Amino acid sequence: MTKAFVVGHPIKHSRSPLIHGYWLERYGLDGSYDRIDVAPVNFGDFLKGFRSKGYAGGNVTIPHKEMAFFNVERRTAQAERVGAVNTVWIEDGVLWGDNTDVAGFMAHLDASLGTGWEQDVETVLVLGAGGAARAVVAGLQDRPIKRIFVANRTPSKAEDLARDLRSGSPVGLETSAWEALPRVIPHARLIVNTTSLGMAGQPPLALDLSRAPRKAIVADIVYVPIETPLLAAASAEGLRTVDGLGMLLHQAVPGFRRWFGVTPEVTPELRGLILADIEGAR
Ligand code: ATR
Repeated sequence: MTKAFVVGHPIKHSRSPLIHGYWLERYGLDGSYDRIDVAPVNFGDFLKGFRSKGYAGGNVTIPHKEMAFFNVERRTAQAERVGAVNTVWIEDGVLWGDNTDVAGFMAHLDASLGTGWEQDVETVLVLGAGGAARAVVAGLQDRPIKRIFVANRTPSKAEDLARDLRSGSPVGLETSAWEALPRVIPHARLIVNTTSLGMAGQPPLALDLSRAPRKAIVADIVYVPIETPLLAAASAEGLRTVDGLGMLLHQAVPGFRRWFGVTPEVTPELRGLILADIEGAR
């Protein structure tokens, strides 16, 4: 039997066990996916010791993603760019770390919009400059996009992100002051919210989308609620929208493949299962 885990602190609200449990059943695999609560002081020991407890690897979530980054032995290029690790596994005796939010966000865009969607997208606007923003920018940098603007409430964090991620990419990476957004939005063919604004219990992200290009796509990584005020406003303007749930589902794919050896599919049934859980919890 192959065992995997999700480790965090707290961990009881994680929906990863539901996702991986669905796939284990669907593919008839002899495996388990356990929720493990580990306080930050014990995380280093946990990472060193999970092999001896019979685990093949697992997901790492808040607040351990940076510590995992510094404590794995090898990292994927995506993890290097983001500076955080959310998936660990053992390969030839070596402890590896990846950041699957990068591939997860891009796979979700591709699945929602169809491959090649970026063909006529020149300018992208990313709101926020935290770990999720880094994953989104790193993913977009692999596509033939001309430039990405990053805007954040705290401008210094946007500057840091742009400085860290600019090198080695042909995609222009610039920052925009929050107050300057009305001048950027009319050029943005893709707008992505990575801030926590719009999440249940948080204020909405109030953007004036009336001057966005008619063909603009608005994506949110917030998935509780599934239709955030931003996505509702975009729909009201007749713009295409991409909700946040798919990123959660798609980011789980590479980990499952590494621990259990099967590339799982993000099915409508899985999406429905997680949606029902989100609705039930509200
Ligand atoms: P994550 O890893 O999910 O990206 P994070 O690193 O805590 O989480 O980042 C949260 C993002 O939401 C940041 O860009 C944060 O802006 P600051 O850098 O200025 O803190 C943004 N954010 C959170 N609350 C916000 C608010 N009330 N208004 C504007 N931005 C907010």
